[in-house]
Amino acid sequence: MIDEVKLLGLAKEAAARAYAPYSEFRVGAAIQTADGGIYTGVNIENASFGLTLCAERAALAAAITDGQREFASIAVAALDRRPVWPCGACLQALSEFGSDIMIITEDKSEQPISRDLKELLPESFDLKKE
Ligand code: THU
Repeated sequence: MIDEVKLLGLAKEAAARAYAPYSEFRVGAAIQTADGGIYTGVNIENASFGLTLCAERAALAAAITDGQREFASIAVAALDRRPVWPCGACLQALSEFGSDIMIITEDKSEQPISRDLKELLPESFDLKKE
């Protein structure tokens, strides 16, 4: 069972540690593995703007680095805006590890809202499909 509120709390906590001196848009993400482990990430900007890493991919990188491959859900939160859904690049990056990952964010009233990855990215690029 996904504890959406807990995962969003961790994403928000992480967002405070974002490195976003250019946009000042601070984002945090918390990804939960199939066996319940949680990894967080923040956006990491760069003076060469195109090198910016989103919070979701930073969280995914932390989990993959620790040997994880199966994910149940990911929560994403920005400090100053709701809702914040992952960008297309992050959806594609997540889709590498399954189309059933639950994406959780907060609505304007700070209530959790969620969508399945395949609902947000119905036709991902997938070399494993026929
Ligand atoms: N950003 C994320 O970290 N995740 C998203 O889902 C959308 C955008 C970051 C990238 C950049 O540092 C800042 O938000 C503004 O685009």
